[in-house]
Amino acid sequence: MSRRKLLLGNWKMFKGPTAADALGRALVGAFDGFRQDVELVAFPPAISIAAVSQAVRNSRIGVGAQNIHWLDEGAMTGEISAPFLVDAGLKHVLVAHSERRQHFAETDETANRRVKAALKHGLIPVLCVGETLAERDANDTERVLERQLRGALAGLSEADMSRLVIAYEPVWAIGTGRVATTDQAQAAHAFIRLTMRSLGGSLADTLPIVYGGSVKADNAAGLMQLPDVDGALVGGASLDAASFRAIGDGFGAAA
Ligand code: PGA
Repeated sequence: MSRRKLLLGNWKMFKGPTAADALGRALVGAFDGFRQDVELVAFPPAISIAAVSQAVRNSRIGVGAQNIHWLDEGAMTGEISAPFLVDAGLKHVLVAHSERRQHFAETDETANRRVKAALKHGLIPVLCVGETLAERDANDTERVLERQLRGALAGLSEADMSRLVIAYEPVWAIGTGRVATTDQAQAAHAFIRLTMRSLGGSLADTLPIVYGGSVKADNAAGLMQLPDVDGALVGGASLDAASFRAIGDGFGAAA
């Protein structure tokens, strides 16, 4: 089964407009001649979106946002909405990254609202799921993943779900240098696909599921060749154009 492949860079709270412009330009250079069948998207901080969009214009590098509010507009100081992203020419938005869950009170219910808002406006939500170390140690990984998926996708039609990207990001692997083993990653991705089959039927076969958590050039190839891993969501190593490109080269031979 051939599925879309994605290489996504989550810049988190790094790179203000000036530095983001420089990284955007460096990415254009670094990915010159890169295989066409892997979609590339950078997710800079909101204030740097315009600078990066300008820096990567006329290139194949897409720009996305790290979060949205579910309302179209309103008295929501500090927030940005899905229609604003569309207006700015964006196509992708991260939803419920574990740092949002951990530090900003994101729940499965608010994730559900954000996914619905993104889809309503034609954006592609990259829904992040993943267990903490305590949950993994308690053998709770599958239960947590299933709860996060069912919660965030409640009320969605199969047509809606077919437009999603899912990112499996074990919390214990994010920013820790401790990457999931290939067995752990494959097992979690296969479980996510199984859960999606029960939620949405055959769309599960074409749904891209990317892995995130300490992806680097030296572990990318092992992860990218797994049958249920369709790409990567990269944090730290996406802040350097050459190391992000080196991860891209881990996708192996072009189909
Ligand atoms: P990391 O972050 O690659 O720095 O571990 C991944 C993420 O949080 O998306």
